[in-house]
Amino acid sequence: MADRRVDPDDGAAYTWEEFSAYYKGKYKKKAVDEYWEECKPVKTKKGKAKGEGKGKGKAEPKAKAKVKAEPKAKAKAKAKAKAKARKPPGAFKVCVCGGAGGIGQPLSMFMALDPNVKELSVFDLNIAMVPPAGVAADLGHLDKKSEVKGYVAEVGQPAVTALDEECLKGCNLVLIPAGMPRKPGQTRDDLFKINADIAKGLVEACGKHCPEAIIALIVNPVNSIVPAMAELYKKKGLDPTKIVGVTTLDCVRASKFVGQITGKNPNFINVPVIGGHAGVTIMPVFSQDKTAASIDKDKIAELDKRVQDAGTEVVNAKNGKGSATLSMGYAGARLGRSILAGLAGRRRVECAYVKSDITDLPYFTSKVLFGENGVQKVLPIGELNEYETTRLEEAKAALKLEIETGMKYAEANELNC
Ligand code: NAD
Ligand code: LMR
Repeated sequence: MADRRVDPDDGAAYTWEEFSAYYKGKYKKKAVDEYWEECKPVKTKKGKAKGEGKGKGKAEPKAKAKVKAEPKAKAKAKAKAKAKARKPPGAFKVCVCGGAGGIGQPLSMFMALDPNVKELSVFDLNIAMVPPAGVAADLGHLDKKSEVKGYVAEVGQPAVTALDEECLKGCNLVLIPAGMPRKPGQTRDDLFKINADIAKGLVEACGKHCPEAIIALIVNPVNSIVPAMAELYKKKGLDPTKIVGVTTLDCVRASKFVGQITGKNPNFINVPVIGGHAGVTIMPVFSQDKTAASIDKDKIAELDKRVQDAGTEVVNAKNGKGSATLSMGYAGARLGRSILAGLAGRRRVECAYVKSDITDLPYFTSKVLFGENGVQKVLPIGELNEYETTRLEEAKAALKLEIETGMKYAEANELNC
């Protein structure tokens, strides 16, 4: 398994690949090499290195080598620019679209609890199971500083005109779990037509009222909807890197299942899941987590399949009454918190499905560094073993087709904002 080293300043662990990829082109190779040598290897025994594990909670390594490698004035100007781009912690506005739905309610609750959230908009339609104003009134009694407001739009009306612009205005992050969930026997792909139109309406409203916001798309099929919305954003002259596909639940599940098999606490397990968010495109990289890498090779294919099919496991257990909502609320909030932490200048690494050039596909899930501008850097896949190398080809072949569905949608449509 790849050697990971702990940065003495932030206590986070990185592989050489992540470390060097981040600094490549920014500092002299020698300076980065020197700083790497200063970092202690991750402990292999019980005493896990501080910060190693969840990916969340990891900040950008503060390279001492930077100081040595750069003239003082340049370093000062850079620090100033970074501070300027930084938003003050605790002052963010977040909107949850579909906020009165199955995922929307727990997700709104987790976000209302985040100390970085000052204002939370809960937006849903007038046909939602609970009026969004009710969800907002309920969450508004939590003894937290966030102010929660509910917004409603009439079904069938385009959000860009029907929605009170106060809902989205000034938002830093918009989380979108609005859309139809699967029923037993359906694939995520079956939801494309209806959910792409829902997502388009909401992305359109974001493009008009909060074009600087990060838009985190939970709505399925993520594999096609994210490319569709990002390409539509691009077509409109907006920044497609603002569109982020939420795949955090795959990482949460992979870590949980590894914990179950090994008897270890999943809180200290961090299995990256790359590729996409459907079937074989969901590709856990067990070899990159120490606990997961200790599992017998002959059990890996079965474990891999369990992660791929975990969504269907919940769909079947709910027996026609929806898909994962509570675990998704938890996972979506984990990503949401990391994005806000990044905007506040406390960088975080999470897997997410974004516009990417680390493979030959234009969209791909991998570790992403979230920072002051949202997606700060898409990190490389890292080392794979033989099984994973084969799986990557399978995942990419399936993902390619699903990306094409999204691209075609973007070609045939445009945002009216
Ligand atoms: P749900 O039906 O319980 O809730 C969806 C909510 O969206 C409803 O309240 C509905 O009124 C609202 N909505 C629909 N159209 C809207 C619009 N135009 N504007 C605002 N609100 C609108 O469904 P759910 O269980 O919360 O699932 C939502 C979506 O998330 C589904 O597409 C599901 O497949 C997906 N999902 C994704 C992941 C993932 O890992 N990315 C995990 C679980 C579910
Ligand atoms: C999940 O993985 O739980 C979601 O994508 C919902 C689904 O349809 O499986």
